[in-house]
Amino acid sequence: MPTPVTLNRAQVVIDRCLRLARFSEDQDSTRRTFLSPPMHDCHQEIARWMEPLGISFRIDAAGNFHAVYPATKPDAPRLLIGSHLDTVPNAGAYDGVLGVVLAISLLEELQGRRLPFGLEVVGFSEEEGVRFGTPFIGSRALVGTLDEKLLNVCDAQGISVREAIANFGLNPKEIAQAELGRNILGYLEFHIEQGPVLESLNQPLAAVEAIAGQSRLQFAFLGRGNHAGTTPMPLRYDAIAGAAEWISAVERIAQSSPGLVATVGKVEARPGAANVIAGEARLTLDVRHGSDDARLRAVEDLVRQAYEISARRGLSVRENTLLNQPAVALDPFLTGEIEKAILKTGCKPHRMVSGAGHDAMILGKKIPAAMIFLRTPDGISHDPAESVAVEDVERAIQCGLHLLDHLATSPEFTKG
Ligand code: HGY
Ligand code: MN
Ligand code: MN
Repeated sequence: MPTPVTLNRAQVVIDRCLRLARFSEDQDSTRRTFLSPPMHDCHQEIARWMEPLGISFRIDAAGNFHAVYPATKPDAPRLLIGSHLDTVPNAGAYDGVLGVVLAISLLEELQGRRLPFGLEVVGFSEEEGVRFGTPFIGSRALVGTLDEKLLNVCDAQGISVREAIANFGLNPKEIAQAELGRNILGYLEFHIEQGPVLESLNQPLAAVEAIAGQSRLQFAFLGRGNHAGTTPMPLRYDAIAGAAEWISAVERIAQSSPGLVATVGKVEARPGAANVIAGEARLTLDVRHGSDDARLRAVEDLVRQAYEISARRGLSVRENTLLNQPAVALDPFLTGEIEKAILKTGCKPHRMVSGAGHDAMILGKKIPAAMIFLRTPDGISHDPAESVAVEDVERAIQCGLHLLDHLATSPEFTKG
């Protein structure tokens, strides 16, 4: 059982996450989307915590926060440690943010001790995909895939990613400079599990061996707006009714497909009045599976269902794919080292696949990437009830320090 002294450092981590949760676009809940004004406050607060470490920070052209803790030698390669600083609407305080705050805690616990590699804290500007519908804008800049197509995507107010970058005071022309150089050894991300597995196993930590692939699509069911009082049922082309039948089909298909999850998370009706039959219903679809083939087959089936239901109801349907993110296996060497580090904290190491997407799946395309999960009480996430136990945070700090010690003495790792 961790001693009260060490629990203090864990409580500091929790307090810091709660502090950052207050930087929000909304009065009574946490919402911090891509380069919204509260992200400035977030950066300033994190920079304040890092001042005693004597290391400066920078914000790259995609709005990612970076701070480098130097190695014994000035031009040594670096290990990135971090996660994302943006949130979903009505968010909890730990999704993403905990990974950045834990990284800072590890630097503080090193107390000036230098390692054979530098440590770069990274706070990604956008992972959730809330503002522009497409996730991983920040981490895609680091692997060079924040392309023109994505820069031109607009939000609900018609502001493009490129304009949002400029509005934040950054220069979109410098996006290419955000791409990682060659001297990066890997990427480590601490993250809450966001699900029920570790709690069911009564384990505080897990080594993540892979991240499930995900598809995100937009649908518009198009019917005929009309008067709710004068239009007989057989003469209706009700877009909401058609969308509702399809949403039930999505749930039915997912429930009968092992390992598949499919979610319609956003529904907008137009014109959206009680006494008007909706002429248009816009929806989002999120589909996940550990196997890309199974996921893509499910997406095909759900799209086909949308067309069949629409045709039968005299509606039309438009759909487009915003994201087709393959499943990613994380780095076997780092995952093995994480398991050893978990063991050293006195916990039984558990390996698992992440159903949630993470920046590690983007970084993993270019550099070795690995993740450490912390138990999520009640499995609740993407909600203000999201939480983390102080004892688990303490174990995560211990695990991180053991891991850095192992890597610092591992010829395989430090040779880069
Ligand atoms: O949606 C996800 O998988 C993650 O929380 N961005
Ligand atoms: Mn999330
Ligand atoms: Mn996250």
